[in-house]
Amino acid sequence: MSDQFTSIDDARERLGKVGYLADEPAALVSYLAGMLGKPVLVEGPAGVGKTELAKAVSRATGRNLIRLQCYEGLDEAKALYEWNYRKQLLRIQTEAADTGWKEVKDDIFGEDFLLARPLLNAITTEEPVVLLIDEIDKTDQEFEAMLLEVLSDFQISIPELGVVEARTHPLVLLTSNNSRELTEALKRRCLYLWLDYPDVERELEIVRLHAPELDQKVARKLVEVIHMIRALDLKKPPSIAESIDWARALLLLGAEDVDQAVLQKTMSIIVKHRTDLDLVAERVGVKLGDGLLGTRQAG
Ligand SMILES: Nc1ncnc2c1ncn2[C@@H]1O[C@H](COP(=O)(O)OP(=O)(O)OP(=O)(O)O)[C@@H](O)[C@H]1O
Ligand SMILES: [Mg+2]
Repeated sequence: MSDQFTSIDDARERLGKVGYLADEPAALVSYLAGMLGKPVLVEGPAGVGKTELAKAVSRATGRNLIRLQCYEGLDEAKALYEWNYRKQLLRIQTEAADTGWKEVKDDIFGEDFLLARPLLNAITTEEPVVLLIDEIDKTDQEFEAMLLEVLSDFQISIPELGVVEARTHPLVLLTSNNSRELTEALKRRCLYLWLDYPDVERELEIVRLHAPELDQKVARKLVEVIHMIRALDLKKPPSIAESIDWARALLLLGAEDVDQAVLQKTMSIIVKHRTDLDLVAERVGVKLGDGLLGTRQAG
């Protein structure tokens, strides 16, 4: 198995085999990322499969996944490397009293005293990996700037040690929920993928994949209801993750239809704001009650 995709079709097929249904743009960038050696920036609303794409690329290419979860205040020490102060201190204490500072310094700033964090790990491993930098928009701009060196040159400079160059080229995927605008400099270095809510047919396929035992008719109606709900002006529209949860819940509850009663009972699985719940009950619940929705079967 090649550790990168050899064509768009190859990407789609292999991602499919590991449980990720990629649409054309997702298959295309997954393929190009490997061929061009460029990172991919994946943006889109919550729960549309951004993180999962990186995990699926790792499974499909047989590369290990190294994940850097971003958060406010994330710094180089947690992302790149850190000196192991405790070990350095212990070493200093055990040096003979007459050892000169230079020798001590050469000693304690060697690789043995370095704690490698995800980014350093990703470029120094022997085996090529998939590097997932998840939710990059949660960090600040200084962090982004630091990341640029890594992403454009695949190297990290450590003042005391010198420049560490990549042994292998990682496949890099960055995800963002758009909570802040990323810098142009970062965007320029990346291929861009906008993941949006899928159409009914694709989402139905995804739901089937995750809840294969659910009755086909119920599954279709569930996805249609989700799409109706997304069309409302909600604070937080339901994502694919919620469709999947809902499908699994309906399966457990043995629901035979998605009608007003079922929606009323299970609505909190898919909408999670007080005001959204009211709006959905009022707009969609009533329609279901009247039997106005398309997939009602004859008889
Ligand atoms: N194309 C797809 N094929 C198969 N499963 C999918 C697909 N898209 C999304 N999913 C499923 O949807 C769920 C949510 O995906 P994921 O966690 O990757 O979303 P996300 O975009 O990273 O969300 P967030 O922004 O909240 O982190 C996962 O269970 C994933 O398996
Ligand atoms: Mg995610």
